[in-house]
Amino acid sequence: MLFQGIGHVLLNVRIFVWDLWLTLLNVLLPSLPKAKDDGEKGRWPEWAAPKEGDSRCACPALNAMANHGILPHDGKGVKFTDMAARVHETYNFAPTFAAFVARNGADTLKRDYSKDTFDLAELDLHNGIEHDASLLRQDAYFSPSQSTPHLPLVDALLASASGTAPDGSRALTAADLSAFSSKRRADSKRENPQFVLDKTHAVFGSAKCVSFPNASIADDDVGSSSTLLAIFGGHVPDLEVFLREERLPRAWQSVCRARKGLTFFAFNGTTLKVERGIDEAKYERERAEKEAAPETQGEKEVEQGVN
Ligand code: HEM
Repeated sequence: MLFQGIGHVLLNVRIFVWDLWLTLLNVLLPSLPKAKDDGEKGRWPEWAAPKEGDSRCACPALNAMANHGILPHDGKGVKFTDMAARVHETYNFAPTFAAFVARNGADTLKRDYSKDTFDLAELDLHNGIEHDASLLRQDAYFSPSQSTPHLPLVDALLASASGTAPDGSRALTAADLSAFSSKRRADSKRENPQFVLDKTHAVFGSAKCVSFPNASIADDDVGSSSTLLAIFGGHVPDLEVFLREERLPRAWQSVCRARKGLTFFAFNGTTLKVERGIDEAKYERERAEKEAAPETQGEKEVEQGVN
């Protein structure tokens, strides 16, 4: 057990050193080219909605890969090593980052990263990686199956976008994600009698979606949602397709054009920005003020739809 623990620590140190090296290379090497002609457009394998009995999970990125057949379409018998390779190719995560996230998936499920397989739905083990107060799914207490997006939440998140993308479309900003996360955490805390999002839950080696290994589940929540900025640039039209249908938009490519992909070190800057902006107390104060003021029928309906 002790040797296993030490082995784990050494492996993570190796991954982080490698990740730092890739971060430096990204500064030195030219970026990947942007898709610019029709030859590169529509290059994702055909999308097909999940069929009855297919396995899906709370992660829109993995579900989209399965829907396109980049992972097995039935979402079953996925090799952890294949998931890492495909995440790298599809979203331009650095190989370090992709392998670390997939390895943590294996650890959560107590499987061997190099040899074993899993079904996507198994990732929804509550308080493993899946957790309360997600941006896109209701808490497991209200919705035991996490395999499909909760559209009122997706719509409310996208409606909150206050930024502008380089092509002039609406875009989510770090401040928007912070505000929406504040709302989700405060609402879940108030409404879910089994709410858990503790800062101490995660210890070294427990599984995370896309953040550092010693981050708490709350930090992890910010980590996964920050990919909406780092990989999708917050671009609302693209996110509408990705989050509602779990489909990669036609001709879409990761906004991360770093030659060696999105590293932990680069990504942590985005995550910190979102985490620092989260202020549940401010959200609760504003909510109390709004409740004290007379509400229009329209506002009432929107609020009921989201929760
Ligand atoms: C490589 C393996 C990955 C694993 C094992 C994984 C696993 C998960 C799990 C279990 C969740 C649910 C967390 C929750 O309860 O909210 C999740 C959410 C999420 N993941 Fe992943 N994920 C992976 C890769 C990715 C990638 C590559 C991206 C982005 C391109 C991504 C983006 C997201 C987003 C946006 C959410 C939703 C967060 C929220 O609703 O708050 N994930 N992931």
